[in-house]
Amino acid sequence: MQAIQLKAPGGLDNLNVVELDAPGEPGPGEVRVRLHASSLNFHDYAVVAGMIPTDDGRIPMSDGAGVVDAVGEGVSEFAVGDHVVSTFFPGWQEGPARVGDFRTTPGDGVEGYAREQVVAPVTAFTHQPQGYSHAESATLTTAGLTAWRALVVDGGLKAGDTVLVLGTGGVSIFALQFAKMMGARVIATSSSDAKLERLKEMGAEHVINYKTTPAWGKEVKALTGGEGVDHVIEVGGSGTLPQSIDAVKIGGHIALIGILTGREGEIPTAKLMAKQAKLQGLIVGSRRDQIEMVRAIDANGLHPTIDREFALSEIADAFRHQESGKHFGKICLTF
Ligand SMILES: NC(=O)c1ccc[n+]([C@@H]2O[C@H](COP(=O)([O-])OP(=O)(O)OC[C@H]3O[C@@H](n4cnc5c(N)ncnc54)[C@H](OP(=O)(O)O)[C@@H]3O)[C@@H](O)[C@H]2O)c1
Repeated sequence: MQAIQLKAPGGLDNLNVVELDAPGEPGPGEVRVRLHASSLNFHDYAVVAGMIPTDDGRIPMSDGAGVVDAVGEGVSEFAVGDHVVSTFFPGWQEGPARVGDFRTTPGDGVEGYAREQVVAPVTAFTHQPQGYSHAESATLTTAGLTAWRALVVDGGLKAGDTVLVLGTGGVSIFALQFAKMMGARVIATSSSDAKLERLKEMGAEHVINYKTTPAWGKEVKALTGGEGVDHVIEVGGSGTLPQSIDAVKIGGHIALIGILTGREGEIPTAKLMAKQAKLQGLIVGSRRDQIEMVRAIDANGLHPTIDREFALSEIADAFRHQESGKHFGKICLTF
């Protein structure tokens, strides 16, 4: 089978197309999946670019979607022909978060899904939403579930709430879509005026260019009648958090998801305390959360926003496209 392996120490020129032996028959409690798609996340980029050290020869990519082509003894949840999508934490089934690192995450601590076939425990997959392409399904594992958990599982999003999403990457566009699906209002930011227009077309009530309006936190507050937003999808990290604290309402919720502006920095702690806001770090979600997200998608017919699809062998070009920051929503690999 065709696969991608990353030669240490990483870097986009060290992504190699290789032929590997196909996996054998699935054992008890396992399925064999013919994978057809993956999707790119900032985390995958950090791995392949060598920012996160990993084993020599690692197969990258956390997200995988495809068709079950064999089931092992005792498997009742899936049948041959079922369309399935991978989970970010194959060992975290349900309940509160139990994993605080990437040691079990496909494409980082263990082999990922940039390959045509895999044998894995049933717990490493869930069903895909009805009518989804494999590429659409592959967007759910990381970006979709992170947005879902931030807003719905942990954020307790209610119809009528106001949600602030930062930038137009995979997580933020999913958050916009889930927020609209749940009847919330959305304020969105971007560095590009053309992307701001697209955000409006997708239902954002207000949009702000965060480059030309560096004090966008105060602008968000003004746009909400001085109150602030109920939820912030904070993908920037230290460089954007002070503005997010300005933007959040008293008692609101900031889901600390990303590190696009860097890993550390100063936080206006007194302001955060005065806001009495909940600042919560999170990493993706459990398999149960993913099953519930798929159920909600099935009930509402939401489809993800895919910017562009690349062949598996074009993986380095796909990451160069992500690196350029020109994308809007998700970039996928199909194979
Ligand atoms: N904790 C988790 O579970 C989890 C899960 C998924 C992702 N993440 C993290 O979340 C972040 C986003 O991930 P992603 O996969 O959605 O990335 P992505 O698709 O690569 O998003 C990149 C986009 O982010 C926007 N951006 C960059 N710098 C920004 C800034 N200073 N302020 C506002 N927006 C900015 C840009 O949008 P414009 O071009 O519109 O300006 C850019 O196109 C990453 O740090 C990633 O590691 C965390």
